[in-house]
Amino acid sequence: MYETLEVNVESSGVATLMLNKPKSLNAIDLTMMMELRRVFQELDDDPQAHVVVLRGAGRAFCAGADIKWSESLTKKDRLESNRLGQKTFARIEQMETPVVAAVHGYALGGGLELALAADFIVAADDAQLGLPEITLSAEPPYRPKITEDGDPDQPEFGGQAPGWGGTKRLPERVGRAIAKELMLTGVRVDAERALRIGLVNEVYPADQFDEQVAELGARIAAMNPYNTRLIKELVNHGYDMLESHPS
Ligand code: CAA
Repeated sequence: MYETLEVNVESSGVATLMLNKPKSLNAIDLTMMMELRRVFQELDDDPQAHVVVLRGAGRAFCAGADIKWSESLTKKDRLESNRLGQKTFARIEQMETPVVAAVHGYALGGGLELALAADFIVAADDAQLGLPEITLSAEPPYRPKITEDGDPDQPEFGGQAPGWGGTKRLPERVGRAIAKELMLTGVRVDAERALRIGLVNEVYPADQFDEQVAELGARIAAMNPYNTRLIKELVNHGYDMLESHPS
């Protein structure tokens, strides 16, 4: 059904959505982005899915936008790909069904931006999170191996910043000063610091991660879905009451 995703909706109401391109650390290419658009709409329309748990297969959650995809794009298509990511992640944020991102290993660039579009993030203690876009065109030693021959996204003039909503959602989550520090340095934060700055809600030992995430998902799935939707709507729109109680 999907080339880059694995979806499993359990009778308990937990829908696990796995990014499934482990060889490239689940880097997001056009196929995965289009599939994410489709699957989140389908899950939001599925009454059996009470909560979506977003995960990555293999040793990382997601290493960001697929740099090989970026390399193949014209300047115009690159702008369009940014718009596509922005629209897709905004839709995830606006879903009625709760979404939890469960992050292990790397959650970088577009991968962290995807996690930030979820309602909240939990992490394994081996997680490393960051928006390293600025390092892709940095001077040594800060430029990563993957762009040592040149960054496809960085024109000599003009610029590039986290393109899929991170510049908005990271400051909302951790405050402007810390968000600016992370984006200006491109530094990766470990799980302990991520917890301290409020980027993740909880950290679990890596060897208990599957179990703890399953327990969290099962708990939310056991709640009345009318009420989980109601709470999301009240919080997302800053209302104190949407409608009177039906009873
Ligand atoms: N795109 C495409 N492929 C990627 C990738 C990416 N973002 N990140 C990793 N990979 C691939 C590597 O090319 C490698 O493939 P091969 O085995 O075929 O060579 C494989 O995944 C494993 O990667 P490494 O060998 O580099 O593994 P590592 O453990 O030494 O390093 C890493 C892991 C630190 C994540 C490193 O791969 C890295 O720095 N990746 C780039 C991360 C990044 O900068 N992401 C931001 C992308 S830009 C973005 O997301 C823009 C936006 O706002 C939308």
